[in-house]
Amino acid sequence: MAGLFTEQAAVYAAARPAYPKDLFTKLAALTTHHRVAWDVGTGNGQAAIGVAEHYDSVVATDVTAEQLLHAAPHPKVRYLHTPDATPGEDLVATLGGEGSVDLITVAMAVHWFDLPAFYGVARRVLRRPGGVIAVWGYNHHISPVEDMMARFFNTTVPYKDPRARYCTKGYRDLPFPFDDIGLVREGEPASLDMEHEMSFEGLIAMLRSWSAVAAAKQLGVDLLGDRVVKELEEEWGGASLVRKVTFKAFLLAGTPRADD
Ligand SMILES: C[S@@+](CC[C@H](N)C(=O)[O-])C[C@H]1O[C@@H](n2cnc3c(N)ncnc32)[C@H](O)[C@@H]1O
Repeated sequence: MAGLFTEQAAVYAAARPAYPKDLFTKLAALTTHHRVAWDVGTGNGQAAIGVAEHYDSVVATDVTAEQLLHAAPHPKVRYLHTPDATPGEDLVATLGGEGSVDLITVAMAVHWFDLPAFYGVARRVLRRPGGVIAVWGYNHHISPVEDMMARFFNTTVPYKDPRARYCTKGYRDLPFPFDDIGLVREGEPASLDMEHEMSFEGLIAMLRSWSAVAAAKQLGVDLLGDRVVKELEEEWGGASLVRKVTFKAFLLAGTPRADD
């Protein structure tokens, strides 16, 4: 799995949108304490550095060592490589033991996880009461270039990992066995608009960072060949145009069930 994020690790750092600051303010308001946060599948730390503004320390973990090499340094963020085979017991100990984490964030990554195993660790490490887990993602629904994105997205479908399906469906069918905290509940993610200034170069870099584009490349298929890039450029409105776009993101948040 980590392989899908190895090749494009450098591209990834430059290509993905930053998350809105007020998202982290709102998440921090949901937890009773602000000591430790765990950002899982941190990639280059896009969410970890936002979370760090509100917590004493952030443990930011990822299965792909190459992603961490491109992570943004931050005095409160400790990046850790956690290979796929890392036992849950070790993760719990690394995070400070049972009940020691105030906030778990997973940005654009939970759909890749072994969900029962991850949720099991999450339940153990979250503070009770008061600990919160928040997972969010975004997909090809980007306004106002929906049609262009849909056409390109369709070319990636044969190369999509089945786990990415959760993301395509906006986490509406993502298992999320946590109690709702009056914000959202399983099956009904909140919508989250993320505005972003995007150049045409930035768009192509983002598309290159898509896991399905990387998977196709591994099979010798370049989904972003010259002809496709030219077509995208025309639809975008020219190579030098910088557009204000909005990612239609989605978020689930909850707290461990009392009987879990
Ligand atoms: C699409 S990237 C998201 C990175 C970053 N959180 C962001 O918001 O841009 C998904 C990340 O999840 C990581 N990942 C996948 N499975 C994982 C697992 N079981 N545990 C930890 N990280 C994982 C990948 O290596 C990759 O860096």
